[in-house]
Amino acid sequence: MTFSIAPMMKWTDQHCRYFHRILTKKAILFTEMISIDAILYGPQHKLLSSNYFDNSTVIQVGGNDPKKLGKVAKILEKYGYSEINLNIGCPSNKVKSGNFGACLMASPQIVSDCVKSIKNNSNLKVSIKCRIGIDDMSSLDLDRFVSITSTAGVKKFIIHARKAILGGLSPKQNREIPPLDYQRVEKLKKENNDLVIILNGGIVSLEAGIKHTRDLNLDGFMMGREAYKNPYILSFADKLIYGDSNGENISRRTVAFKVADYIDQFLFDNNDHLITRHILGLYNNMYCSREWRNNILDKSFFKLKGDKLRFATDKIEKMISLREAA
Ligand SMILES: Cc1cc2nc3c(=O)[nH]c(=O)nc-3n(C[C@H](O)[C@H](O)[C@H](O)COP(=O)(O)O)c2cc1C
Repeated sequence: MTFSIAPMMKWTDQHCRYFHRILTKKAILFTEMISIDAILYGPQHKLLSSNYFDNSTVIQVGGNDPKKLGKVAKILEKYGYSEINLNIGCPSNKVKSGNFGACLMASPQIVSDCVKSIKNNSNLKVSIKCRIGIDDMSSLDLDRFVSITSTAGVKKFIIHARKAILGGLSPKQNREIPPLDYQRVEKLKKENNDLVIILNGGIVSLEAGIKHTRDLNLDGFMMGREAYKNPYILSFADKLIYGDSNGENISRRTVAFKVADYIDQFLFDNNDHLITRHILGLYNNMYCSREWRNNILDKSFFKLKGDKLRFATDKIEKMISLREAA
């Protein structure tokens, strides 16, 4: 069974992934979606070098042009990526108007050509993140999509277990409605036992993810919002999912101190917020979680860089131990 942290635009950037990697050595990390045009014509090095601390990171791209994807694949290999994930699940208007993302579920032949081009130009593994369908697509259309794209060389599918509604709903609404249908994912795996099928959508704890994966006979699960908002749960992933019991569970304090080291080492010019914005939830569900967030959000607090974060952490830890002693 594998566990992945979902690609999330503006959330799972390189700083966030650094933080997540402190919490779990084994979870599979994904970049945010990067458009292939941004890679080809934009700040390529900046976009692609963000895997410098972790070359197992999967890069997610958005695009629909086989030729360009072939070029991109060559470049990604040079940057040390070994897996490219195609975003076939994003319902946003911007992505839809570029004719990629979820709308490509209706064009499996184009996706297949993209996959073939990546394969012809690189040794990258290709995976797909998609929905169970879009709009009024039938259940058979999902089977067809998976059949055509897997024939082209995709062996791993991450399925957000709800349809995407392309018209009328915002991306945020499209993460809540229509309802989840895990049974559809179970059926897909039953009929494609040779493929790796990963469940995504609505999983709110590692325990629930493990249970769904086992009950539905899947190969793993991916967690998005809960992992981001309540990141400390990630510190249990290596042991719970991979049976890796190396060392004690890392404490919140140690995590925060490692983030402080990162600030001192890598973030200059009062750029601490680039990583501190991702650690707001570190003390979630604890007494004083609000105090923690307030400290982190207080801009004046961070002039002393890492030391201020160490100081804030110790203050919170003291409050917790006083509370526990009372
Ligand atoms: C802020 C945000 C940004 C997202 N950006 C992406 C993205 O870039 N690519 C993608 O495939 N999915 C994206 N998603 C969808 C998630 O990867 C995931 O499929 C979705 O949140 C459902 O999983 P969850 O219920 O565990 O959060 C995003 C979700 C959120 C909340």
